[in-house]
Amino acid sequence: MLDIKITRTQTPKEKPDETKLGFGKIFTDHMFIMDYTEGKGWHDPRIEPYHNLSLSPASMVFHYGQEMFEGLKAYRGEDGKARLFRPDMNGKRTNDTNKRLCIPELPVEDFVEAVKAVVKVDEDWIPTAPSTSLYIRPFIIATDDFLGVAPSKTYMFIIILSPSGAYYESGLAPVGIWIEDDYVRAVKGGIGFAKTGGNYAASLAAQVKAHDGGYSQVLWLDGVERKYIEEVGAMNIFFKIDGKVVTPALSGSILPGITRNSVITLCKDWGLEVEERKISVDELIEAQKSGKLEECFGSGTAAVISPVGTLRYKDDVMQIGDGTTGALSQKLYDTVTGIQNGTVEDKFGWVVNV
Ligand code: PLP
Ligand code: COI
Repeated sequence: MLDIKITRTQTPKEKPDETKLGFGKIFTDHMFIMDYTEGKGWHDPRIEPYHNLSLSPASMVFHYGQEMFEGLKAYRGEDGKARLFRPDMNGKRTNDTNKRLCIPELPVEDFVEAVKAVVKVDEDWIPTAPSTSLYIRPFIIATDDFLGVAPSKTYMFIIILSPSGAYYESGLAPVGIWIEDDYVRAVKGGIGFAKTGGNYAASLAAQVKAHDGGYSQVLWLDGVERKYIEEVGAMNIFFKIDGKVVTPALSGSILPGITRNSVITLCKDWGLEVEERKISVDELIEAQKSGKLEECFGSGTAAVISPVGTLRYKDDVMQIGDGTTGALSQKLYDTVTGIQNGTVEDKFGWVVNV
């Protein structure tokens, strides 16, 4: 149990118009903070009014990127209850990331308790308009003032909250994805499986290129042969090929998505055949040409289930199905959001009340 000290704001902000939230642009009244000091462990858990941080310019996070982050959401159901979706999985993944980056681990129960506590304080900020939720961003930064390359001895664990709508500007309409054949994101043995800023910094040049070409996100190929499908900038990727659900296996270079795990569980429960394996870009092109590439969608906390309408690889522009949302993508979207909002039975025990 954390002994969380709560200081409430005296100047609450005005709540935003729920129809114009966008993603990650507005922040609530409070934030959670906890410090780590070598020899003392994690200490001083507290909830404070949302404020800027004051850090030495020598703080290690600014120089060598020793940091991690997570992403999950709180949902307000039609019954008025606030819910979280599988927050323990975010807590476990936090520690997988931390181990790789020499950041001290955090008990999963403390992670979940901190998330619940700060969401509870800002519960009024959970939006209720369709396709909206309260995006939760926990993160840890290295705070030693030191320019040598070494693990920091001090850290801050912070949670901020952002009422958000759809991640993509197109909302739920199918997105166009650029299969990147030049830049790579990660290789096995690197940090691709970890949720840390460096992976996202490494993705920006390709993302800018994709945007300039009129595409929403990048689909990465493996970093060695540039032949096998990995994942998208902010989501895992699924294909329905000839009736089977196919997704890249967790190879160490892609993020083990919580939504990915939920999609696999649901599809198997519905009796669909699911294959986690290597998928080459050539296999996709062939499947599309022969009419066997029935659907393609991304899965992620921010992206939920995002149907993909078009995939571009070099000079090939592949339309998926008829370019509209496929039946399986729609069923997954309805089921996942239904469980999150409490309108679909939570038969796997994924939902946690705040
Ligand atoms: N892959 C990347 C690179 C991501 O940033 C995300 C988003 O968190 C995902 C996959 C999906 O993970 P999850 O379903 O846990 O949100
Ligand atoms: C999430 O889906 O929670 C993410 O972290 C994606 C993010 C990079 C916007």
